[in-house]
Amino acid sequence: MTYRICLIEGDGIGHEVVQAGRRLLEATGLAFEFTTAEAGWDAFQRYGSALPTETLQAVRNANATLFGAVSSPLQPVRGYRSPIVALRRELGLYANLRPVLSQPVPASRPGIDMLIVRENSEGMYSGRERSDENEAVTERVITRHASQRIARLAFELAATRRGHVTIVHKANVLRATCGLFRETAFDVAREFPQVRAEEMLVDTAAMRLITAPERFDVLVTTNLFGDILSDEAAALVGGLGLAPSGNIGQTHAIFEPVHGSAPDIAGQGTANPTATFLAVAMLLDYLGENQIANSVRQAVEGTLRDGIHTPDLGGRATTLAVIESVVERLARS
Ligand code: NAI
Ligand code: MG
Repeated sequence: MTYRICLIEGDGIGHEVVQAGRRLLEATGLAFEFTTAEAGWDAFQRYGSALPTETLQAVRNANATLFGAVSSPLQPVRGYRSPIVALRRELGLYANLRPVLSQPVPASRPGIDMLIVRENSEGMYSGRERSDENEAVTERVITRHASQRIARLAFELAATRRGHVTIVHKANVLRATCGLFRETAFDVAREFPQVRAEEMLVDTAAMRLITAPERFDVLVTTNLFGDILSDEAAALVGGLGLAPSGNIGQTHAIFEPVHGSAPDIAGQGTANPTATFLAVAMLLDYLGENQIANSVRQAVEGTLRDGIHTPDLGGRATTLAVIESVVERLARS
């Protein structure tokens, strides 16, 4: 089977890391057909849209998409909308997956292997806001449907891991919204007797991520909580250069490094491609190529263990040196 992969480089180091991801995909020996599409600030300058319709179509036509990073203007610019947010909405990418795995680098704590499953379509980011001079209101929308959908994915994934889900909420204060999320998640838990379900208040979860991160397997939570906790967790295992994510829907999926376009180092050949490589591993898992995905993760781990580190990790290796080491290890596996 030939997989059709859409590549969206975006801006800044997005170009460098997606090219690296393509080389890694080519080195797997699987059959891929690549399409490239544009998005982001450069696309906006050129076409007047940060997400041209051709790009949306290319993502729709692909089995999976690898996305680099885009630059967003600091001040609101007329007509500019974040393409990744628009893609999530257009394609119904309701889940954001953030694996958090210890890596052999000095900045990473050992013994951590968790997956944060964040609801990606509603909650605090529903866009229902209003304000006048003296009061501002953001509505937090939680539905049974979206809570059920995200909880099911979390329990399904937990069943393939250590079989433990932590439902993170604040139902003691947010009785209506978190109450519904909690109740729905526990309803779903009953469909998975082989998975252990526990609950934890979000403030406690924030603390325990620091004091005992090894205890977590899968965390499932609402949009804003997941956004914050997943960045906190990424810092435990080496930070931005190593953190991948996936946006998953019923029919489409987009994988990306968590980091942005890093204009401060763009074009210098020193961007760390590891986060993108780990996003490629997630993409391969999504395609059902789990064995090759694991080989990719091992090749990445071996490269890091051997001290082939880019400057963000305190080393002197170039992007190319990391690519070559990972590709060569994959070929030997
Ligand atoms: P950033 O993640 O681009 O960079 C933060 C710091 O980390 C910089 O010092 C950068 O050099 C470093 N860094 C990031 N990724 C790296 C890598 N792979 N290798 C080595 N060093 C790396 O975040 P920042 O500076 O806040 O934002 C820059 C631009 O990126 C902005 O326009 C922002 O809107 C955009 N952005 C885009 C995202 C996306 O496309 N998903 C996510 C976050 C920011
Ligand atoms: Mg974030």
